[in-house]
Amino acid sequence: MYVAREELERALRNGLNSQQHLLIHGDSGTGKSWLYKKVLSDLDVHFEVANLANASRLGSITNELANLVSRHEIAEKTGYSESKSAELNTIVAKGRLDHTGQYELGQKEPFESCLAAIRQRAGSRSGILVLDNLEAAFTDQFLKELADLLILCDDERYAYYDVKLLIVGVPSGVREYYYKTPHHATVANRLRELPEVSRLSLTQCRSLVEKGFEKRLRYTVEDPSSVYKHVAWVTDRIPQMIHEYCLEVANLIHHSGCTVDSDTLERADELWLSQSMYHGYAVVEQHMNERDTKAGRRNQTLFALGCTENEHVKASDVEELIRREFPNSTSGTTLNVTQILAQLGKGDQPVLKRTPKGDAYAFADPRYRMALRAMMMKTADERVEKVPLTNK
Ligand SMILES: Nc1ncnc2c1ncn2[C@@H]1O[C@H](COP(=O)(O)OP(=O)(O)OP(=O)(O)O)[C@@H](O)[C@H]1O
Ligand SMILES: [Mg+2]
Repeated sequence: MYVAREELERALRNGLNSQQHLLIHGDSGTGKSWLYKKVLSDLDVHFEVANLANASRLGSITNELANLVSRHEIAEKTGYSESKSAELNTIVAKGRLDHTGQYELGQKEPFESCLAAIRQRAGSRSGILVLDNLEAAFTDQFLKELADLLILCDDERYAYYDVKLLIVGVPSGVREYYYKTPHHATVANRLRELPEVSRLSLTQCRSLVEKGFEKRLRYTVEDPSSVYKHVAWVTDRIPQMIHEYCLEVANLIHHSGCTVDSDTLERADELWLSQSMYHGYAVVEQHMNERDTKAGRRNQTLFALGCTENEHVKASDVEELIRREFPNSTSGTTLNVTQILAQLGKGDQPVLKRTPKGDAYAFADPRYRMALRAMMMKTADERVEKVPLTNK
């Protein structure tokens, strides 16, 4: 159930037409892998995926490429021997045995073998080598090896295969890394960074949930706009989270009628918190005011942080949100938000981290904002309480 992401898809298609190798980045679960699989399949481009998490385990990217090639060889050899045995009778009957297959791949070094295998399988189509999960190999050692591979692609022997590299992962700033690294500035010029893959737009989120609930599962959605708004809110419109949350809803529906209403969502929030958001819940819980302090300012701050939309949050934005959400308990009072935010950025498991410039904060884990949204309740007297976890 794929929801179209036109801008990102177009950026990727344009990138494929350029002379450069490509970089796709974005937080986990935002849909990077789905994006390239969809676009490359639609264009009938042949691609093979090397997993850099495996490279990290095997000690080098080259080892993972060797692994990829050997998987190919096994597949090809199996196909070869099957077709051979099918042919055998005919050949024997004809009284000759042709030598029809040669395995040269293993004689080349792994990167070249890999490019050769991709070219062979792609035929006249475009060929792409995807290096996915860059975050698993984001160290000087692997980035240096990656730089070497990118440079090699311009070497006549390797350029011959005409295979483009598509590097995919969480980290941004790969080009900057190469610009700053001695001898690697030219690598940066070989790379094109596509716009960040991040949350879906409200319309895309709605379309995904609508497709799932109404078209596929044929549920009745009561007050659709508030249901879709709620799903978008608690999941922060991260595709993977939308799927996980909707699965909780579907599990509940399975046990009751076929209607999604506010009751279902309330129960889904509880289940989701205790299943998918458990870690975030536990971390936020540690940072909450335990005792009833004057206004429970720290809890109000956490609530306000859940209301933020941007990746980076400044103390002034949070203060504005606290005053908006809790007008009575904040009027005419100093709030000390800067101090509270600094505290939320401390400890073994901080909720926030400072941005590199140091003038704002970001969530230490993007899931914490989702946990906050689902777990923090505002009471009539402007206090903030947590939704208790269910044991179900
Ligand atoms: N365009 C989309 N339409 C519908 N669902 C999507 C879309 N993109 C992603 N998803 C959902 O989100 C999940 C995560 O997507 P994907 O695996 O592509 O994320 P990712 O960014 O590659 O994450 P990671 O960095 O952890 O590998 C998918 O399994 C799918 O359920
Ligand atoms: Mg992925």
